[in-house]
Amino acid sequence: MRRLFFLINSFLLRIKRGRKVKISNNSKINLGCGMTVHNDWRNVDGSFNALISKFPRFIIQIAYSLTGARKSFTKQDYVNILYENNFIHYDLRFGLPFHENMATHIYTSHFLEHLYPNEAELLLKDAYKVLKKGGVIRISVPDLEYAISLYPQEKKDMLNKYFFINNVNNTFSNHKFMYDYDSLSEILYSIGFQKVERSKFCSGDFPNIDTLDNRGTDSLFIEAFR
Ligand SMILES: C[S@@+](CC[C@H](N)C(=O)[O-])C[C@H]1O[C@@H](n2cnc3c(N)ncnc32)[C@H](O)[C@@H]1O
Repeated sequence: MRRLFFLINSFLLRIKRGRKVKISNNSKINLGCGMTVHNDWRNVDGSFNALISKFPRFIIQIAYSLTGARKSFTKQDYVNILYENNFIHYDLRFGLPFHENMATHIYTSHFLEHLYPNEAELLLKDAYKVLKKGGVIRISVPDLEYAISLYPQEKKDMLNKYFFINNVNNTFSNHKFMYDYDSLSEILYSIGFQKVERSKFCSGDFPNIDTLDNRGTDSLFIEAFR
């Protein structure tokens, strides 16, 4: 059943390729949001959950039992998260579905590593264009430096957790690349960001950070300013 959902989802994402979604000026955009969302934000994800978020409530309730969501959410929470937030269903390998100079903030947590490096760079270039001058992107990814520091003690666990996530039913959950502070900041500077800074879990004045930041120990946090 999940394989079928994945195939339908992939087909619909392909149809939407290249579309632009109208958003208001000064928007805040959350990329690869999963279910970690806030209703002040435009939350973009390619998942089946994002697809059905605009469906009638009873369909979301049926999907709850079929998608595996019950492992992580109560039915009520699942329905409320999808129903009450603003999701955009889009495959971010195709870049960002927004016009230039529309956003003040972009957030992305544990998503970039799900893209190949060329796809991630394309996406970050688009993010730069969609941000207004002075806008900021906050990025959280699994920290390669941290993963390597675990290597001697927890080799098998670390390899499965960080490098070789490989799910044949849902290739969106696979990891395709890893970053440390130096490699990611180098990419951001090469795209044109003026200032790149290391940040910390739930630290700083980025809007709604307490809701959005959700992975403390294993993550690298970076903010880049246009
Ligand atoms: C590990 S989850 C992170 C979710 C959330 N940002 C968080 O921090 O909890 C990665 C998310 O990226 C999404 N994703 C992976 N590849 C994608 C793609 N090509 N386009 C859009 N979303 C994608 C998945 O559907 C999933 O929701």
